[in-house]
This record gives sequence, C-alpha cells and structure tokens, in this order.
Amino acid sequence: MNGSSKSARGGFASRLGFMWAAVGSAVGLGNIWKFPYITGEYGGGAFVLTYLVCILVVGLPLMYSELIIGRRGGKDILGALRDLTKEAGLPGTLLSWLTGAMAVLTGFLILSFYAVVAGWAVHFFVLSVGGLELNGGAGETFGALVANGPLAAIWHTVFMAITIFVVTRGVQGGIEAACKILMPTLVGILGILLVYVAFTGGLGESLIFLFRPDFSKLSGDAVLEALGHTFFTLSLGMGVMVTYGSYLKDEIHVLRDGFWVAVLDTVIALMAGAVIFAVVFSNDLEPSAGPGLLFATLPGLFVGMPGGALVSTAFFLLVVFAALSSAISLLEVVVAYMVDEFGVLRLWATLGMGFAIWLLGLASAFGLNMPGFLPEALGGGQAVLDTLDNLTTKYLLPLGGLLIAVAAGWMLSKQDRESGFSALPGNGGLLVSSWTFLIRFVTPVLILLVILKGIGIIDFSD
Ligand code: PHE
Repeated sequence: MNGSSKSARGGFASRLGFMWAAVGSAVGLGNIWKFPYITGEYGGGAFVLTYLVCILVVGLPLMYSELIIGRRGGKDILGALRDLTKEAGLPGTLLSWLTGAMAVLTGFLILSFYAVVAGWAVHFFVLSVGGLELNGGAGETFGALVANGPLAAIWHTVFMAITIFVVTRGVQGGIEAACKILMPTLVGILGILLVYVAFTGGLGESLIFLFRPDFSKLSGDAVLEALGHTFFTLSLGMGVMVTYGSYLKDEIHVLRDGFWVAVLDTVIALMAGAVIFAVVFSNDLEPSAGPGLLFATLPGLFVGMPGGALVSTAFFLLVVFAALSSAISLLEVVVAYMVDEFGVLRLWATLGMGFAIWLLGLASAFGLNMPGFLPEALGGGQAVLDTLDNLTTKYLLPLGGLLIAVAAGWMLSKQDRESGFSALPGNGGLLVSSWTFLIRFVTPVLILLVILKGIGIIDFSD
C-alpha cells in the first residue's frame, strides 16, 4: 500500500497525534470505573499482578499485531484483513468478513452502553458544578439516576452528540485535536488527586492493597477476568488499533508506540485505582462494592471533604474526558468501515451510525431487560446494559482478538511481521522471534481458554 492512497483518506499530523489518539482510546471507563471495581472484587494485589502479566503476554503482542495489520492495509478492519488473506493466498474471505463484521458490530454494541455509563458521569459532573448537593447519599443519588430513564437518556444523548460532533470533523481535525487536549488534562487532574489523597490519608493502605499480592485470593476465575479486561482496557479485539494504525505513516515506529500506549494505559488505571482505594480505605468502605464503586461511593466521599465539590468536579470531568476519547475511537471503527467499504461520505456515515447507536443506547439508558428467550449465560432476562457489557467483553472482544492473532501470526509475511521491529538494533532479532512465538501459540491459546471458560465448557473454580 503506498503512501499517497493513505494520505487521500487523511492521517495523523504527527507521531504524538497518533499517540494521543491511541492512548485516548485505551484510557477510558475501563481504567477509571471497571479496573478499580474488579480489582476490589478480586482482592487487590494478586489480581493486579495477573492483569499486568496479561498485558505483557496477550495485550502487547496483540497491540503490535493490530497496528502492523492496520498500517500495511491502510484501510478499515475488514478491508485490511481481506487484503491480507488474499495476499496470503488463502481461499475466500471468511476470516476477514467474520472478523471485520464482528469488530464493527462490537464497536456498535459497546458504544451504545458505554455512552450511557459516560452519561452517568456527565450527571455527576453537572451535580458537582452545582455544588454537589446529594439527595440522601451517593448511593441514593446514583439509584435515583438509574431509575430515572428520561434523565439518564438526556445525558446519554448529550454524550453521544459530542462524540458524533468530534468524529464528523475527521481524524486530523477531530480526534487528534481533541485527544491532544484531553489526555494531558486527564493525567494532570489524576496527579492532583493523587497528591490530594497523599495528604488526606489512605494512600499507603491503597498502595499496599494494589501492590502486595496475596495469592491465596487468586482463583482461576480471577485470572480469566484479568485476561478479559486486558482486551477492554487496551481497546483490542475489535479493530480500533487496526483503524488507527491505518492512518499511520510508514516511518512510525510501531513497536515503541504500542509499548507506550500500553504503559500509559496501565499507569493511568493504577493511578485511578490508587486514588479510589485511598478514598475507600480512609472512609472505611468496602473495596468490593462492585460496579457501583465509582458512582455510588465516591461522590459521597467528596461531599465530606473540604473543597469536595471542586474535587468532584475535577474528577468527573476527568471521567467524561476519558470516556469521550474512547467513544470517539469506537465510533471511528464503525465510520471507517462505512466510508471504506461502501464509499459513504464521512459526514453521513457518522451521523447515520451515531444515530443508530444512540437509539440502541436508549434501551440501556431506560434500564430495559433483554428478552427471556436469550440463554441466561448471554444475559437473557437481564438488563440490556449488563448483557451488552458481558457479551462484548467476555465473548466478542476475545473472539476478535483470537482471529486477529491468527491473522497476524500465520498470514502476515515475514517482512510484514518484522516491519514493526526494523528500527531496533539488529532489526530486533530476539524480540521478533519472541513476538512471533507468542502471537502464534501463546496468545491464541490463552484467549481460547477465556472463551471456553466464558461459555462454561471448562471450569477453573477451585
Ligand atoms: N479501552 C476503553 C476503556 O478502557 C474501552 C474500549 C474498548 C474502547 C474497546 C474501544 C474499544 O474504557
């Protein structure tokens, strides 16, 4: 694929522009909302350590795979994989269709509920700006919001509108420009919060909880949860990094950039965890409070702090920013697919798909339940939001990751496989072979285990 056809569809203005966008996609509700609560549920240190190992042996190899496939393809995920299978001399395009269609569907589904959770954050941001008057306590305020469909739908709509607006402006004018402002702000606000809790107490206990592993608490289930979360938090398994990689100029060093995206994502999750657990421990709260940990607990704590409304405002602004830059990437995968595969104008693709996602999101905002004919494991009879979250994180993302790993490990030419490592001394010899080994054998097998566990074919519970 030559450079000129890439520049016709735009590209990132600079290496840092790509970095901001990729970090922006990776860092989101997964880091600030999900990582702390699952860490709390699975008992801290040992889970965190497992998650870090998963980032290394599954996350990083897949990150490189997606960036390399995207950069060589210069297209949306389906197009990039179709070219790849064709060039590898494989019959048919089943793999590319499966992976591509599933990726687009996954992005569609994730964004629909993601925007609702982000909308909750907008609600608490607005409450904080208004002086953080909680009705009852944080739990009650959160409960009242979740029970109030129209209110949740309003914030969902506001969030989707902003996301659509940024994506209509295109990769360079929109995504890169937004992330360049969003990401440094986010790190800055987290830094301020960390300093704050260092003075107000709880930080020591929080760090011990996060970093002192107690392996007696580590069940097989926790290992698999850590693996599944790796996909979600690094935006892997549905072509975000393939799509962003397709806007990369050839000279960009994929290996280094992928590495920094994973490092920054992890650091931000740990910073968020450190802040949240510091507040939890200094107020004698339960670390294992579950998905409500962020929304039902922290606002109550902010209320009790001097200058709490201000801290709360900063905190929820941070959550909204992080969610926005992830949402942008989710929509971008769907839009790039419509633009590249069907030649739809970017503006119409964004408005049309954005509208459809918003519509589906209303089901989550209004707290509707899935019809009972769905098998229970897939969420039959449960809330739409939980079902879509489960379906995408436990099944669709890992399956997409598995297919991408197969494509990268077994279909990329040797030259392509080495392309991400070429800037290293000796062309990255040992690293290339380690990556090839991981992506061919280790990564797919581990992912398969997660999926089989999810379906219930194997059972690790001790
Ligand atoms: N990585 C994002 C987060 O942690 C969520 C996401 C998943 C974004 C998949 C894009 C694709 O919040």
